[in-house]
Amino acid sequence: MRRRGFLTLASATAAAAALTSGSHSALAADEELVLYCSPQIEWCQLMVEEFEKATGIKVAMTRKSSGETFAQIKAEERNPKGDVWWGGTGDPHLQAAEEGLTEEYVSPNADQLHDWAINQAAAGSNRTVGIYAGALGIGYNSELLEQAGLEPPQCWADLTKPEYAGEIQIANPNSSGTSYTTLATLVQVFGEEDAFDLMKAMHVNVNQYTKSGSAPIKNAARGETAIAITFQHDMVTQKVAGFPIEIVSPCEGTGFEIGSMSIIKDGPNPESARAFYDFALEADIQALAANAAAYQVPSNAGAAPPPQAPKLEEIKLIEYDFKEYGSSATRQRLLKRWDDEVGALPR
Ligand code: F6P
Repeated sequence: MRRRGFLTLASATAAAAALTSGSHSALAADEELVLYCSPQIEWCQLMVEEFEKATGIKVAMTRKSSGETFAQIKAEERNPKGDVWWGGTGDPHLQAAEEGLTEEYVSPNADQLHDWAINQAAAGSNRTVGIYAGALGIGYNSELLEQAGLEPPQCWADLTKPEYAGEIQIANPNSSGTSYTTLATLVQVFGEEDAFDLMKAMHVNVNQYTKSGSAPIKNAARGETAIAITFQHDMVTQKVAGFPIEIVSPCEGTGFEIGSMSIIKDGPNPESARAFYDFALEADIQALAANAAAYQVPSNAGAAPPPQAPKLEEIKLIEYDFKEYGSSATRQRLLKRWDDEVGALPR
């Protein structure tokens, strides 16, 4: 059986009994999984279909942004309702690990992962693990910029230029992991004071702070904003769909995410949770991402990145300090400072 590794002993026994009786639908029919999903909805749906097909375990999935999912798991701490949090930026997964909201687990598939995915697990005391990686960028609609007679921005610092007034979109860092990664990147590139000065100066150029991290580039693709700050793989999705989107790696260097996965502590279906966790780390499952137009770099070394995926080795990446910016104290402090000094500014 191709995916024997992710079947738990109990479900394997149920599977054997079901196969003997010739009824595939009886496979683990009493098992369920409540999945909190933070990457693109198309990839969430594909994972649900594949997992249900492979195991017979019924999945109830909801998609929410990374910061929102963290807040939900925190709010449900005394009565956990979810089993697995799959995807979303690594920082709030690390915060959940530090706050004891997630369960320690080392998958038998962990030895197939890139070092960066294992380092993420180590930073979170094995309460989380890396499942993909992707770099931040500045995306723009080349037709809109040309019509406006504007040069594309090349650097983070360019985003404060008065000529971009009302042209920029980025998500709110409270709800969106993409936007928190951007905030933390600017702090690491410029130092905290200069980074907040930059975000305050950029604020007058921002036409909307969206809830979801990838919304700005979708809106740029549809001509609703000229410039969007998102992960580069989300820009690739729009380019591949035929929209006039171009991608810039900021000249000062850029931050990146280690998209992560965690098992929620005391969730209702712990066996299904571990089965999903092992399944999601398999090379052939990670390699399906491109079928959902998801172009992140997979964490299983045996899964080739989609050819369209941004080549991380060619991008000037900063040494993003996941331990520091995924710590509860730092994340809470920076988000509060953003609310007080940037989000609260009039426009
Ligand atoms: O759209 C996919 C993606 O960019 C993931 O790579 C990332 O982990 C997630 O979205 C972040 O979403 P949000 O910013 O909405 O939390």
